[in-house]
Amino acid sequence: MSNATNLTNIIGPAFVRDIEDHYLKANSEQGYFIYHIEQLRQHLASLQQQDVVKLWFAVKANPLSKVLKTIAEQGFCFDVASQGELEQVLAQGVAPENILNTGPAKSKVQIARFIDRGVNTFVVESINQLAWLNEVAAQKDVVPQVLLRVQLQWPEGDKNPLGGNELTPFGLNVEQWQTIKLSDYQDVNVCGIHIFQWGNMLSNAKMYDLWSQMVEPLVALSKQLNFDLDILDLGGGLGIDYLQTGQAIDWSTAISDLAEIKAKANVKEIWLELGRYAVAQSGYYVAPIVDKKINVDTQQLILSGGINHLLRPAITDQPFPARLLRTSNEDSTSFHVHGPLCTSMDKLGEFKLPNDVNVGDALLFGLCGAYGFTESMPFFLCHEIAAEYIFEDLTFELIREPQAPSWYLR
Ligand SMILES: Cc1ncc(COP(=O)(O)O)c(C=O)c1O
Repeated sequence: MSNATNLTNIIGPAFVRDIEDHYLKANSEQGYFIYHIEQLRQHLASLQQQDVVKLWFAVKANPLSKVLKTIAEQGFCFDVASQGELEQVLAQGVAPENILNTGPAKSKVQIARFIDRGVNTFVVESINQLAWLNEVAAQKDVVPQVLLRVQLQWPEGDKNPLGGNELTPFGLNVEQWQTIKLSDYQDVNVCGIHIFQWGNMLSNAKMYDLWSQMVEPLVALSKQLNFDLDILDLGGGLGIDYLQTGQAIDWSTAISDLAEIKAKANVKEIWLELGRYAVAQSGYYVAPIVDKKINVDTQQLILSGGINHLLRPAITDQPFPARLLRTSNEDSTSFHVHGPLCTSMDKLGEFKLPNDVNVGDALLFGLCGAYGFTESMPFFLCHEIAAEYIFEDLTFELIREPQAPSWYLR
């Protein structure tokens, strides 16, 4: 497990004080999430200060109603990967023409349901999906717009959560797509290509290099299949500096790089589906400390919530940055921070924390707005499901109550 650094650089003292006041009043024994809506709004508005890229939000990163509404208000469209995500986005008043459907597990039934709900843009990830969509479109007398999801092989040995050069179920390689004839799929409008194989990138140069390498084979595929490549959807992958290394994607550089890619590929539109780059920095997790001990010369803190609420550190070896919620002038030493589950995987990191940190204090984690609440393992050991608050107009509003395990236990 990597050594995590402190959260101080990415959260202002005033907001920490607000969270501390709220924590003391709420008297919660369980961990909970907070999303800073004004911070989110400002960040999204800054992402929209350009006319190069059409922005979609990958709902899997954070499907909370108020988060989705804030994102919709900033002119984003939505990438949904399941029926649950679709219904949640529609419930926020988003028009179906502003929704696209990605994901390798689209059944024919699911495709028909999406069409019935008015969705008209599909990223197809297999020849079956293309055939099913074509069939359903003919039956329902609609002409969906389709992007073929392509998976390229890379010469280097880089690995990555989205696959990198490893084989994944996301899309198909060029050779497979070359076997189809678009004349067999007359009821859909194939007009673009989707590609996304690299997650959490922190270097503009590396992203540009990868995007550049994609252009030639993708343009060639569109020519071979004889369709106009109007749209190039490059997915997500813009990274968040969880380890506080100082690396970051610079948005204006990314935009000028994408303008070049757009020209090189000669496409009408470039799309991105941002997940973490849109919402990670606006989310926080507060967790009370329930025990402190020294074990084989190691200082250990046990929190009431761990990977049951925040799984990511266990699967990526990247802790979310953290700090002691209250202020302390004591010197800091290293503490190993664990959650309540009966697995050694339930470790949120090693942090430098003031020596007087103790039972009854809470830790505050940052960068938790993406892949937090929904990317967790909430059922193991039957702890509470985390509450979710928003912070707006200097007020905390409880959007989702903490949920006792009795709601799912039978
Ligand atoms: C199809 C698709 N688009 C976009 C994203 C968002 O990725 P990120 O959080 O890296 O921006 C994901 C994440 O898995 C995805 O599967």
